[in-house]
Amino acid sequence: MSRIRMGMVGGGEGAFIGAVHRMAAALDGDIELVCGAFSGDAERSRRSGAALYLPHDRVYGDYRTMMTAEAGHRAAERMQFVAIVTPNHLHFPVAEAALHSGFHVLSDKPATLNLDEARRLRDILSRTGLLYGLTHTYTGYPMVKEARARVAAGALGNIRKIVVEYPQGWLADREEDTDNKQARWRLDPARAGISGCMGDIGVHAANLAEYVSGLKIAALCADLTTCVAGRTLDDDGAILLRFDNGARGVLHASQVSVGEENALSIRVYGEKGGLEWRQQEPNTLWLKWPDRPTEMLRSGGAYLGELATANTRTPMGHPEGYLEAFANIYMAFAAQIRAREAGQVPAARAADCPGIDEAIRGMAFIELAVAASASDVKWHAFEQS
Ligand SMILES: NC(=O)c1ccc[n+]([C@@H]2O[C@H](COP(=O)([O-])OP(=O)(O)OC[C@H]3O[C@@H](n4cnc5c(N)ncnc54)[C@H](O)[C@@H]3O)[C@@H](O)[C@H]2O)c1
Repeated sequence: MSRIRMGMVGGGEGAFIGAVHRMAAALDGDIELVCGAFSGDAERSRRSGAALYLPHDRVYGDYRTMMTAEAGHRAAERMQFVAIVTPNHLHFPVAEAALHSGFHVLSDKPATLNLDEARRLRDILSRTGLLYGLTHTYTGYPMVKEARARVAAGALGNIRKIVVEYPQGWLADREEDTDNKQARWRLDPARAGISGCMGDIGVHAANLAEYVSGLKIAALCADLTTCVAGRTLDDDGAILLRFDNGARGVLHASQVSVGEENALSIRVYGEKGGLEWRQQEPNTLWLKWPDRPTEMLRSGGAYLGELATANTRTPMGHPEGYLEAFANIYMAFAAQIRAREAGQVPAARAADCPGIDEAIRGMAFIELAVAASASDVKWHAFEQS
């Protein structure tokens, strides 16, 4: 047995999420970074790879060269999967190149630039039979997994209402006119896609609502806004949701909510009780009851279910955070690769990882939200195909 070999596209010097992926991948000691094309600029990619102590010949000037060169290495040396951490417009072409060269893909969200690309990605995956994972980070938190398990076990009864919010404040000014590279591409339709805020964080909120509730969004009514003058993409929005069991929902995402950091939260109410989880206090899950005080569940508790426990590394009171949530996605994806190579069916724990279905739903959500907001028709059916 050896560690699973990972390549990376994006995540060069000055990038945000690439470093988070590398830390997450390294956390359990089961995955090693063996190569990368870290920037669209060849020299920058080389500098970034050198800073990561990668051998010179495994740091590539562009991702296409990387796929060809890696495919030419001996099976025991070449990368087994690629982590894609570039701006959105490159997710599909990089995934396509990797899959065509025989490599599994773990991509950051949103899966692609548009729904059409996501469908093409699904076709390539079914042709190649390779694995695909999507880093909807928040599903990786142990207390989110506990919330899902409790809803699935019927603890809250039939679900009637879901309120999910993701307010941030970092784009309240024209940050895209500064040298903030993360803001610049996120507000450029050619690199971000047709939505700013909904594509960047609303899609996480929609995924979290579906993951925790086990329900699917069936229809929506959207009002997206651009608060800061001069922007072409939305920076704020509110969406009413109808779920496939008839439950109603409210989704709010904003990047102009001054003073907010990453205040993602979800509340789910059923016939018998409710629950609440907040990402800025991720080790706590509140359960709410009509006839007794609110219960506070904590990560690491012996009373938690199998999935939450399997995704927890530290004892109660030692906080689990964002990096660990990310690492849980890597852990599941690595287990899928191990099962595939051993010719086994992956365990439930390995399958608990967002994949191509979530990719398609995410892109369909973004496109429908934008279309619904531009329309005078009130409700728009969420048709996934
Ligand atoms: N899952 C999450 O919670 C989460 C959080 C943040 C960002 N993201 C997603 O991660 C992706 C990256 O976001 P970010 O904030 O790190 O952006 P960033 O601008 O900080 O980093 C992007 C990186 O991609 C590189 N890049 C650009 N073109 C390239 C090319 N042709 N070849 C190789 N590398 C290239 C850039 O040089 C940079 O290193 C986005 O899709 C974003 O939506 C996800």
